Amino acid sequence: MPSGFFITLEGIDGSGKSTQARRLAAELRRDGRQVVLTREPGGSPGAEEIRALLLEGPPERWSAETELLLFTAARRDHLEKTIEPALAAGQTVICDRFADSTRVYQGITRSALRSRVDQLHEMMIGRDADLTFILDMDPARGLSRALARRNGEERFERFGEQMQHRMRRGFLALAAEYPARCVVIDAERDPDSIAREIRDIARARLP
Ligand code: ADP
Ligand code: TYD
Repeated sequence: MPSGFFITLEGIDGSGKSTQARRLAAELRRDGRQVVLTREPGGSPGAEEIRALLLEGPPERWSAETELLLFTAARRDHLEKTIEPALAAGQTVICDRFADSTRVYQGITRSALRSRVDQLHEMMIGRDADLTFILDMDPARGLSRALARRNGEERFERFGEQMQHRMRRGFLALAAEYPARCVVIDAERDPDSIAREIRDIARARLP
């Protein structure tokens, strides 16, 4: 049985990750691949319950440390129940956010927790994607797109625009840190052009 391929999409809130994750899943299914489309926080029943704890309520509800533990707990469940079984069955997994979001949001932007983020990742998760698209765009535009959705999950968006600037810089720094895995995509274009670029890169890298 061939081992599967793990693709993640990362970037600031409102950068178009969910839109592009859906489109990439549709393209790869048209190519005849078996695709599991999933997201974080969430992606398994237990992790979806943790998602509500994390994304609803006021920004000060959790410290960065508590958040790190909750995101890691959710990721561990998601990995056990959804991602690893699909990869073991040879499927392509497309995940809207994964460990890079923790490296940036908990590791860099809220406080200097990056070494703890890395330690926990090593101990409890132990794997990264095979290919990561980092959707890059102007933070003010991303934030206005994200807030326009009004789905009650705005706890992180409420940290404000300055934080979005730090997150953007954080994602670009990660792309430089993991150049073999990460591809930065200009996300300030029409959705069709972005989808074509992502599809072509994914096709070239897929086994
Ligand atoms: P994310 O998952 O990164 O938060 P979404 O895919 O949910 O982003 O997109 C946020 C909002 O912006 C949605 O309303 C979506 O329809 C819109 N959107 C996504 N991609 C684009 C694009 N390339 N140009 C304009 N609007 C977009
Ligand atoms: P999500 O619905 O993915 O955000 P959006 O669609 O607006 O990009 O919500 C996830 C929020 O949780 C997002 O603001 C980033 C944050 N987050 C972390 O802080 N750490 C993490 O490890 C993950 C996966 C998400």
